[in-house]
Amino acid sequence: MARRLVVITGASSGIGAAFARVFAQKGWDLALVARREDRLTDLAEEMKAQFGVNSLVIAADLSKATAPQEIVKAVTDAGRQIDGLVNNAGAGQPGEFAETKWTDQKRFLQLMLNSYLELIHLVLPGMRERGFGRIVNVSSVSALLPPSPGHTKYSGTIYPGIKSALIKVSEALRIEGQDRNVNVSAVVPGYTMSEFHDVNGARATVSKLPSYWFSTAEEVATAGYDAVERNVPVRVVGAWYKFMSGLARVLPDPAMRWLIASQTRRLAKSAGN
Ligand SMILES: NC(=O)c1ccc[n+]([C@@H]2O[C@H](COP(=O)([O-])OP(=O)(O)OC[C@H]3O[C@@H](n4cnc5c(N)ncnc54)[C@H](OP(=O)(O)O)[C@@H]3O)[C@@H](O)[C@H]2O)c1
Repeated sequence: MARRLVVITGASSGIGAAFARVFAQKGWDLALVARREDRLTDLAEEMKAQFGVNSLVIAADLSKATAPQEIVKAVTDAGRQIDGLVNNAGAGQPGEFAETKWTDQKRFLQLMLNSYLELIHLVLPGMRERGFGRIVNVSSVSALLPPSPGHTKYSGTIYPGIKSALIKVSEALRIEGQDRNVNVSAVVPGYTMSEFHDVNGARATVSKLPSYWFSTAEEVATAGYDAVERNVPVRVVGAWYKFMSGLARVLPDPAMRWLIASQTRRLAKSAGN
């Protein structure tokens, strides 16, 4: 039997590159997607040397509406079928909603939500027909906690809302896929060591946060792979975020908002902001 193939978006860095390593280690071939083709090519060579798997390198800008169709076409043109999808590519859209251009918000939505949904919509029919599929959507713990000014400043006002949508969509798709062996999971990381905070300008602030707030990209990818293999709908990564998201489920909303607001003030003070 030919090796299974997983499409991984945002594979040129951080969590996406870590997902590539985890899937390759499990014997999957890869379709690596991002804008920085040189990095994808390096990763493809590394995965071949280390695990003997083959990779397709697909340079694509997922903030463009045509990208999902082009990605799927590139895979099928290479004579491969898509057995897995890791929707991971992303970046922040810093700044208050009213202060940013709608064209920027639209691009953000295209990258962070529409492209995720269209890719799923494109790959699901084949997965259902063949009776096998694995889909991981990379969400964020910001989806499970009250918003803080930090989200707006660095990731964008609608970032937590988009990441919440990914959780709900994953849960609903998992139910649809249950009888067809199409597993769907949302992996929910908190702060993760990657280039994300360099891209959105938060590095100086984030570097002052306690180390126990951080996961590695490898921890996130391992948790995501495990979740989708076990068909767990939502997997929060890291003890701290399991605790905080658990607290958010039991505390009344005003108490949780107060907690997050006071924590934000304390951190801003210690960071000298
Ligand atoms: N880091 C965190 O603290 C954290 C926490 C919770 C959730 N997340 C989520 O985790 C995911 C991965 O982020 P990361 O932490 O691994 O950040 P990262 O190291 O900056 O990686 C982001 C990846 O997305 C790709 N990407 C960005 N814009 C793209 C575009 N327009 N078209 C195609 N690819 C694009 C980048 O590739 P190119 O630049 O080469 O295109 C890169 O491979 C994101 O969805 C993020 O929201 C991150």
